[in-house]
Amino acid sequence: MARDPRYDILFEPVQIGPVTAKNRFYQVPHCNGGGYRDPSAAARMRGIKAEGGWSVIFTEQNEMHHSSEISPYIELRLWDDDDLPMLAKMADAIHEYDALAGTQLAYAGINGPNLYSKEIPLAPTAMPIRTYTSDPVSARAMTKRDIRDLRRWHRNACLRAKAAGFDLICLYAAHGHGIFQHFLSTATNQRSDEYGGSLENRSRLMREVVEECKDAIGDSCAITLRLSLVETIGELGFSNSEVRDLIEMHAELPDLWDLAHGTWADCSGPSRFKEEAAQQELVEGIKALTPRPVVGVGRFTSPDVMVRQIKSNILDMINYARPSIAEPFSPRRIDEGRVEDTRECIGCNICISGDMTMSISRCTQNPTFMEEWRKGWHPENIEPRGDSETVLVVGAGPAGLEAARALGKRGYQVVLAEAGTELGGRVVRERKLPGLSAWGRVADYREYQLSQMANVDIYLDSELGADDILEFGFEHVVLATGSSWRADGVSRRHVVPPPNDDSLPLFTPDDLMAGKMPDGKVVIFDDDHYYMGGVVAELLVEQGCEVTLLTPAAHVSQWSNNTLEQGAIHARLVELGVDIVLNRALSGIEQGRVSSECVFSGRADSMPADAVVMVASRVGNDALWQALVAREDEWQDKGIKSIKLIGDAESPAPIAWATYAGHRYARELDGPDIGDALPFRREVTQLKND
Ligand SMILES: Cc1cc2nc3c(=O)[nH]c(=O)nc-3n(C[C@H](O)[C@H](O)[C@H](O)COP(=O)(O)O)c2cc1C
Ligand code: SF4
Repeated sequence: MARDPRYDILFEPVQIGPVTAKNRFYQVPHCNGGGYRDPSAAARMRGIKAEGGWSVIFTEQNEMHHSSEISPYIELRLWDDDDLPMLAKMADAIHEYDALAGTQLAYAGINGPNLYSKEIPLAPTAMPIRTYTSDPVSARAMTKRDIRDLRRWHRNACLRAKAAGFDLICLYAAHGHGIFQHFLSTATNQRSDEYGGSLENRSRLMREVVEECKDAIGDSCAITLRLSLVETIGELGFSNSEVRDLIEMHAELPDLWDLAHGTWADCSGPSRFKEEAAQQELVEGIKALTPRPVVGVGRFTSPDVMVRQIKSNILDMINYARPSIAEPFSPRRIDEGRVEDTRECIGCNICISGDMTMSISRCTQNPTFMEEWRKGWHPENIEPRGDSETVLVVGAGPAGLEAARALGKRGYQVVLAEAGTELGGRVVRERKLPGLSAWGRVADYREYQLSQMANVDIYLDSELGADDILEFGFEHVVLATGSSWRADGVSRRHVVPPPNDDSLPLFTPDDLMAGKMPDGKVVIFDDDHYYMGGVVAELLVEQGCEVTLLTPAAHVSQWSNNTLEQGAIHARLVELGVDIVLNRALSGIEQGRVSSECVFSGRADSMPADAVVMVASRVGNDALWQALVAREDEWQDKGIKSIKLIGDAESPAPIAWATYAGHRYARELDGPDIGDALPFRREVTQLKND
């Protein structure tokens, strides 16, 4: 199909210093949990995006000198020439499809604890390191000699980046992560020499480095600056108006201004707390201050919103991190007039958890993310079906829907049977919870895709038993029957149920999602630690309950530190008047009271309550699976080659695990039996000869 002419403007070229971007789709740096440990996986992922139509594609932040690094987090490194082959592989993968390759030089300064290099961290002013883990390390104040060294290191890094094949170099002054920001901010720069005090002085290092980088490679490479639009760290941090003064003062300095929000948590705000284009107010008007292109983020998924940003003269190019992860082919979709096929980012930030846990990133919407090289999974292409023809998918939650979609794409005859009256499983229920409506895109995208496939039949309101399944005679059956919240409090703290005299009504998140609500004073016991406890607290406040959230963790929704949501969740609950009780576990329910104990000292207490909500753990709904396994000797006679259990039914986890399980099932059906072999590729550190 042809492109909608309304979107033509998105495909205009943009000049960035000495290089030309072929369209306005700009993929800003984003890490992936693989970095220098998994360079081929990261390179292939970037290459796929180039194939998907982005004109500019950045690597994640690239630690440009060994004297500043952010271990244990795994990013890229440009420490010496040994790093060049891995970086060249990334640039080459991006160039293969005619995109420009960028890398972000990061000198972490006050944000780099140097746990690996063991070097003393350097910063404008001596102070303790500012990291997520508050490492007990301090930076020393940089001398003039250090500043000269830093300038030279940048020049050297630029020359190396150019040698590796990069076309754009981004200098990092955003999110509190880059040294230029530490110099710009009066919070972290308390110097009294020519690098401190006035804005001109505080921006001196930035100016010197940009000029020197341009001098070194500016004839062929663009030098961009990534700035936070406002620092959001309290009184001393810089404001949006100061950023505007800075841009006006250095209007022609970089080849492009790349504007990000305050901290990383602000910038990558989840859909629970931030709408699309949430930074618009902070960016509006900046283009008038500089002749250079201005680019900015905003979890952009709607081409109409993107066009508005350009036509209203707010941005020159649209920056994407998460939407490019969820849908690496987004520009091609728009170009080919297939916008409705876009797999829209749901804003859950699971991709960030891969970086925060130093594992490897996942994406809830795009199960192929970071598996492009490891497993050879291309987000667009999939092997045609193997020897078998028919598959029954039982359950249309995230795992079942993704399995049916991918199996349908492979060309199998698929029947998807769902016991409920809507597609989406847990997503049907969870999308109605406060702040989670965008999560419904997991179901919406797949429902539309399935509606386009003549070889997939969907049956709603169709609860199947073992007899039905054995009678149908499908060659393969996959059970994606979801999970249920337990009411008995068993989770991490209690491996057997705590005492309960049934004196209080007890609810689970499933009850609340089904509309069965408590009232009065409600105690939530959260031993799950991801989003559900906080979301349920919000829901109950909306219902007029007086809510206490009791958790053995040190933070509300503790695991959401990994999705950068924890601070916003805590603030929201405080705003709503939720009584937050940390480091205490429910120890029993007796005589209308909830007993609790301090997880460290064991000190006991109790509080009156009208009801308890257990956000403890989930169990897989595997009764059907068990019934079928008990009759395994009948499978062959009935023509059944395999029956598998996947997703939450096999092992409850976040939605991303379920879409991955569904996709994996579909990819591997009729595949070779690899026995005990490793089911993915990896790279192993090369040994030196000495
Ligand atoms: C997984 C992930 C990793 C990120 N890593 C970086 C990074 O290395 N450097 C950087 O400047 N920004 C990083 N960001 C921030 C993004 O570049 C971007 O500014 C932010 O996510 C907002 O854009 P979006 O709404 O399109 O995701 C990262 C974002 C994500 C989601
Ligand atoms: S993991 Fe979630 S936030 Fe990240 S790209 Fe995928 S859908 Fe978007």
